[in-house]
Amino acid sequence: MGTSLIRNIFNVLLVLVPVLVLAPVQASAFYDPVEAGARKAVACAPCHRLNGVSQYPGIPNLAGQKRDVLRVQIRDFLNKKTPHPRLGAASRSEDVMEHTVEGLSERAVFEVASYFSSLPCALPKKYSADPVPDVISRCVRCHGVEGRNTYKNVPNLSGQRKRYLENQLRALRESGLVPNDPLVVRRRNHPMMGPEALFLSDGEINALAGYFSTRKCR
Ligand code: HEC
Ligand code: HEC
Repeated sequence: MGTSLIRNIFNVLLVLVPVLVLAPVQASAFYDPVEAGARKAVACAPCHRLNGVSQYPGIPNLAGQKRDVLRVQIRDFLNKKTPHPRLGAASRSEDVMEHTVEGLSERAVFEVASYFSSLPCALPKKYSADPVPDVISRCVRCHGVEGRNTYKNVPNLSGQRKRYLENQLRALRESGLVPNDPLVVRRRNHPMMGPEALFLSDGEINALAGYFSTRKCR
């Protein structure tokens, strides 16, 4: 009887020990940044919607955008307090977004970026037959002919909201025009993209935004 009790206890341990030892490993194996991001994305849904396809002209679609692009943009919003961004440095600020992402940890940023990036991109509401603007030859080497490219830090532009694209190109151009105004430069600046926007006219910005917003993203 004594030995069978010991054997029973031994048998129970035989089952329990691996469970106890493996449990934490299993839990971390099930960690899915996309799933974790989906829960956090509820805070973003009023503007970007849970499916990442915005219904408002000045608010960008996030669905299907590259993870690193989203991550870096959120990081730039978080870094708004950098006192005097040099013209050569990337910066971005916008009141609404800064307020929303305030206090997000690096991990949380990675998770929401992973989530929105995993969603199917937005198909444009209309496909325009507008002529391709001449100046586009300057953009395609980075952004791709249809506004899709394989560089992980260069955003896809296809199917993006037109008004949003215009706003960004204007903000980027403005930083080049008044490089000594920290408030302007802080709005949006980028060492690669800034010089590209600097020479665009209003007409070209309008044509380019129209073109890219009506490209199919998939
Ligand atoms: C109250 C509205 C609002 C909420 C809520 C909001 N956003 Fe935004 N978001 C905006 C606006 C407006 C912009 C465009 C800012 C600009 O013009 O630079 C933007 C821009 C962005 C961009 C830049 C996209 C790009 O292509 O560069 C990212 C990334 C982003 N938001 C992520 C998020 C995430 C993640 C959340 C939730 C944690 C969130 N946003 C919540 C309004 C919102
Ligand atoms: C040398 C590469 C390069 C070229 C050429 C280039 N871009 Fe960009 N573009 C970038 C990078 C990198 C970014 C991301 C900037 C950032 O991180 O803020 C960007 C960002 C943008 C954005 C903001 C997108 C968003 O989701 O917020 C727009 C709009 C844009 N580019 C349009 C253009 C247009 C139009 C042209 C042609 C006149 C052009 N770009 C030429 C590299 C380039």
